[in-house]
Amino acid sequence: MAKLLFEWDYSSYPGAKAYPHLFKQIQIGNIIVPNRIKYAATEENLNDLNGFVTDADVAYMKRRAEGVVGGLCFMQGVYMDEARKGQGYVGQAACWDDKYIPGLKRLADAIHGEKAVAGFQLMDCGRVGAVEVDSGHGPSTVPQRLRIFKPMYEMTNAEVKEMVQQSVDAARRGVEAGFDIIEISGIVGYLISNFLSSYTNRRTDEYGGDIRGRSQAMVEIIQGVKEVCGPDIPVGIRLCSEELLDDVRGNTPEESMETYKIAEEAGADYISCTLGWQESIYPVISRDIPQGNWLHLAKRAKENVKIPIQMAYRLFTPDRPNKAIGDGELDIWEMCRSMIADPLMPKKVLEGREDEIRHCVACNLCLARLFRDAPMTCYINPLCAHEHDESFYPQKAEEEKEVMIVGAGPSGLECAYVAAQRGHEVHVYDKREEPGGTLLEASKAPYGDEELMTCVNYQKKMCEMAGVELHLGTEVTEDLIQEEMPDTVVLATGPVYSKIQGPGGDGENVVNVLDVMAGKAEVGENVIVWGNRKPGIGVALHLAKQGKKVTIVGKEKTAGFDINPSFKWRYMIYLRQNGIMAYNDCDIEKISEGEIIVKTFDGYRFPVKCDTVIVSEREANDSLKKVVQAEGIELFVIGDALVPRNLSSAVHDGYRIGIRI
Ligand SMILES: Cc1cc2nc3c(=O)[nH]c(=O)nc-3n(C[C@H](O)[C@H](O)[C@H](O)COP(=O)(O)O)c2cc1C
Ligand code: SF4
Repeated sequence: MAKLLFEWDYSSYPGAKAYPHLFKQIQIGNIIVPNRIKYAATEENLNDLNGFVTDADVAYMKRRAEGVVGGLCFMQGVYMDEARKGQGYVGQAACWDDKYIPGLKRLADAIHGEKAVAGFQLMDCGRVGAVEVDSGHGPSTVPQRLRIFKPMYEMTNAEVKEMVQQSVDAARRGVEAGFDIIEISGIVGYLISNFLSSYTNRRTDEYGGDIRGRSQAMVEIIQGVKEVCGPDIPVGIRLCSEELLDDVRGNTPEESMETYKIAEEAGADYISCTLGWQESIYPVISRDIPQGNWLHLAKRAKENVKIPIQMAYRLFTPDRPNKAIGDGELDIWEMCRSMIADPLMPKKVLEGREDEIRHCVACNLCLARLFRDAPMTCYINPLCAHEHDESFYPQKAEEEKEVMIVGAGPSGLECAYVAAQRGHEVHVYDKREEPGGTLLEASKAPYGDEELMTCVNYQKKMCEMAGVELHLGTEVTEDLIQEEMPDTVVLATGPVYSKIQGPGGDGENVVNVLDVMAGKAEVGENVIVWGNRKPGIGVALHLAKQGKKVTIVGKEKTAGFDINPSFKWRYMIYLRQNGIMAYNDCDIEKISEGEIIVKTFDGYRFPVKCDTVIVSEREANDSLKKVVQAEGIELFVIGDALVPRNLSSAVHDGYRIGIRI
């Protein structure tokens, strides 16, 4: 008889009416999960360097457990070998000894405290591991394609058997710590996927050969883990449905589906359908991939096995998974990044508060941080990874102030609602008629940038709820400041656009990037974009899509210096695909009729054909600073007005000043 771990009644909630398939029970093994929602396992580098669970990790997980409203909440994958070859992240939780059980129990208890189902994940990172040691392990010695990873060497037959036993022992510890469900991570190039793949498994013993042989290690792990867990604890596995490794002769999709059937035969109680490897050359989860793009893979998985299929991968809103579940093409909606960005995302869906969701913008900064051995950070959620730190939450202000915020862009709006939540009287002014600042134009760039506006939509809602007064179409002048005489002024005015110093810099064929994106400036056929950061790249791609011949000239040593490494590679490919040449570490020396002169960092000069020059280089904006200082008013400068950077800096600046005023 299957056991329901926690009673939940969703019937009176608006979200359960709008998305009935998401809030229906499901049986997995011998447990009944109250809904179809899962927070998928997520490394966050928050644990100590010996793999012990920290307060930061517990607080992080507790918040996500609250978010799943009774669903599945998985902790990050643990490494299981004392030699640390399977460790992929410096702050990854460990489970190679019983001494880790008390810390893991804190996580299980925190999840149960929110009446959610606690999931434990086993994750030997295989060829993506060995972060703290010189070399890693795998089925065969196949050189790494990505330089960031360590060399790895073939495991002996005895070492494979030892690894299987390590997984079984770790699963037993997870159960002793109180977890309700165990998951084996076989995704993106971690050890299990290394065994399964024809790219990385060249063995000739019983763990290699055809797809059955390559699946043998997985089969032994599933069977061993099932046995140690007993009938009451379901055991699932995350498996690639498509490796996207055709260029290095990885598994075919048919072979991948074979691994699903073999996992089911071995006793897996569910499969989480994943795709792609870190070494794959195809993008899977960045913003340029449309939401819902991969759901057909869940459908195919369901056609191949009978056990429940779960899937994440760019499913950031409830409508698509609700429909897919209703159509029988998916069983459980997994989420990783959407709950990094907003831990209460599904709870807000249930409560009919979708307009209060802070949506992930699929920038992959969270991943980039992990690979640089830093604690995880979210681009647009300043509280992420600070859940344990009281000082990061908006506290009631000791003295209620009248706060004037100049600029209704992402930094100004963020600061505004946070300050208002603390009890300040907040007025936001903007000379534009619409909030959003330069994001209004930036979000018109191609490859998914329209999703950036979700950040402003969230901030507008928060401002409305916190009672912030917006004064749109109102330019702040010296007179207005003197008239209002607020206690605090926050300058969130956005950047100033630089002037091209050489001859022709103020010519009629020189236009501003915002005017171009807004469709207000005329642009000729041969276009030079001045500035090789993201605003320059965005406008260059926008115009190339209209058939213009675009060249970028910028001062940074590399184009896209301000884009996260985990996303920047996509932009570099798009520049090439759109025939855009970027002259980096260069400047414009002179603009004349029909051409510009580019000057390289070492003084070399050459002409480039040009009808229009677009200025995207930016500088700090100190307008109004002296006026405010002269009045002796408390002053803060945030966002691009302080130093031109990106959306993330704007949001984080706004939040941090909002909690300080
Ligand atoms: C920061 C980060 C950490 C992750 N850590 C894990 C992990 O520990 N185990 C795992 O199986 N998958 C891990 N993943 C993969 C996610 O669980 C998920 O499958 C993937 O991000 C796609 O879902 P999404 O589009 O909802 O983010 C991680 C992903 C991210 C972004
Ligand atoms: S860092 Fe970027 S990709 Fe990661 S959760 Fe935040 S917004 Fe999403």
